[in-house]
Amino acid sequence: MSRNIIKLIKILFLTVSLMASFSAFADLPVQIGNEEGDDASFDYDHYYDDRSDFCANDSADPEGQKGSPVISSINPQSGNVGDSITLKGKKFGNSGHVLFGQTRAHTQAWGQTKITATIPEGTGSVSVYVQTNRGESNHVKFTYLEGPEPTPTPTNPPAPVPTQTPVPTPIPTTPAPIPTPTPTPTPTAPTFSQVNKDILVPRCVSCHSSRNAAGGVDVSSYSAVMDSVTPSKPNSSALYKSVKSGGMPPGKSLSSAQIQEIYDWIAAGAQDN
Ligand code: HEC
Repeated sequence: MSRNIIKLIKILFLTVSLMASFSAFADLPVQIGNEEGDDASFDYDHYYDDRSDFCANDSADPEGQKGSPVISSINPQSGNVGDSITLKGKKFGNSGHVLFGQTRAHTQAWGQTKITATIPEGTGSVSVYVQTNRGESNHVKFTYLEGPEPTPTPTNPPAPVPTQTPVPTPIPTTPAPIPTPTPTPTPTAPTFSQVNKDILVPRCVSCHSSRNAAGGVDVSSYSAVMDSVTPSKPNSSALYKSVKSGGMPPGKSLSSAQIQEIYDWIAAGAQDN
């Protein structure tokens, strides 16, 4: 008899529980089965005693309000950081976390069946899921748009600094270069070879060679000639003075041109050239 009454109470409770579970708001079973365990009430125990029973009979809501959250849709399925996204499903409970891969999203609104969140930082495709104190939901895919947002500053080659169109260097109005007056061609000084060939050999060597050096004067070689020459100083050179005076060669003097040639060669340094 009393057993029947207890049975009746059980049925009554289950009915209430069932009704509650249909309610969009009531989270009765969980409230009863308060996980903080600060209310080990009769109902709590009772509820778990009959839990299997409850589930078996709960054909109207096989998943009930217990267990892990379930995401049925994510909208949009792709987007940009900072955009809002809506997750629909069930058993989201009253609070929890929405994760994009490893990153928690800020949630704007949290309902049993609908969560609005802000897309956190991320790239590519990530798994989005909900974590509540009842567990982790299924994962749904979300793709970050390459978005026009972070327009990766194209590594444009630095705009070529417009090289200022080179100002045409004004043609300097320099007066036409004064043509250097064609230098009166200073007659290149006669060389020793010329002097030797023109004068010494034909007019002096017969009497002033190494074998026959009249007056000790030998003009048969450059080095010997230099004994009678002071370079650059014709007037200090015996060679020049002897011809300038007309003393040499005896008998018939050199022409003024020949005398000048000797002068010029000595004046130019009496080179062995
Ligand atoms: C025909 C022979 C003869 C010819 C040619 C001759 N000389 Fe002499 N020269 C002599 C005699 C000899 C002496 C030494 C006697 C003297 O001092 O008068 C002499 C002396 C010199 C002396 C030394 C004079 C001094 O003042 O120390 C010089 C320098 C000289 N000759 C230069 C020449 C030159 C240069 C030529 C050619 C352009 C030349 N001689 C041609 C016979 C010649």
